[in-house]
Amino acid sequence: MTVFLNGDYLPLTEAKVPVMDRGFLFGDGVYEVIPVYSRRPFRIDEHLARLQKSLDGIRLANPHTVEEWRAIVARVIGSGASDDQSVYLQVTRGPMAVRNHAFPKTVTPTVFVMTEPLVTPPAEQRAAGVAAVSAADFRWLRCDLKATSLLANCLLRQMAVDAGCVETVLFRDGFLTEGAASNIFVVRGGRLLAPPKNHLMLPGITYDVVLELAKAHSLPHEVRDITAAEVAEADELWMSSSTKEVLPIVRLDDRPVGRGAAGGKPGPLFADMYAWYQDFKTRVMRAG
Ligand code: PDD
Repeated sequence: MTVFLNGDYLPLTEAKVPVMDRGFLFGDGVYEVIPVYSRRPFRIDEHLARLQKSLDGIRLANPHTVEEWRAIVARVIGSGASDDQSVYLQVTRGPMAVRNHAFPKTVTPTVFVMTEPLVTPPAEQRAAGVAAVSAADFRWLRCDLKATSLLANCLLRQMAVDAGCVETVLFRDGFLTEGAASNIFVVRGGRLLAPPKNHLMLPGITYDVVLELAKAHSLPHEVRDITAAEVAEADELWMSSSTKEVLPIVRLDDRPVGRGAAGGKPGPLFADMYAWYQDFKTRVMRAG
């Protein structure tokens, strides 16, 4: 596997960054994760547009044009071992001469791109659904930026792992925000609900695809604030991300999601959405 580091293509083991890099000392950087199917990046334009927004949000100039990014990503994908991959791309504010929170006068960003095999959830996990825990969202107020400073997300995800679960569903002031590393959808009474994009959640690329598919297939849907009580009474709960695609959450805090015999297992609307998602992916990839 070849990685890209500051203009060079080299083996991962040879890629080195200085310890004075602000990404290392402050988590001062932004990133993207782009899924790749059959060696083609999925929704790359949308990922690069979100990268631009994240860079604008942290006041760092984009070191590459969209065309340059596309070429870098294509070359790294070409070196990957599998056809389906997950491309990781990060830009930090680069090295500083002395440790200082304020930005250096001259910034030389560090640009790093690597690829890993894409590991989507196994079919059995999708068929059975996964368990999640809930927690107070104690992150900052710029969760719309895909920043590399992910300590809060790591602590929150670890809560799920410690409880033998897959994700932590986050609430701020009694309202659903997102997961530690995913967006969350609620189904109630045949209607899909999604929290609105704002500074409290990452505008997921998969989130957009899910809402586009709901629209295309006339599934009633609504983007609005969702209370913790509505989540507790959900018929279905889904998580979405570039690497997990769409996955049903069937237990939350040790209680089944959904009522009666239908509770605790993936619901019918999830089955529809998953089929639409796979069909969409195949069509997009075929179209090139
Ligand atoms: N995470 N919210 C958070 C906090 C995330 O970290 C992610 C994705 C998402 C979903 O966004 P998208 O659909 O664009 O992948 C939502 C990636 C996969 C990661 O950090 O590895």
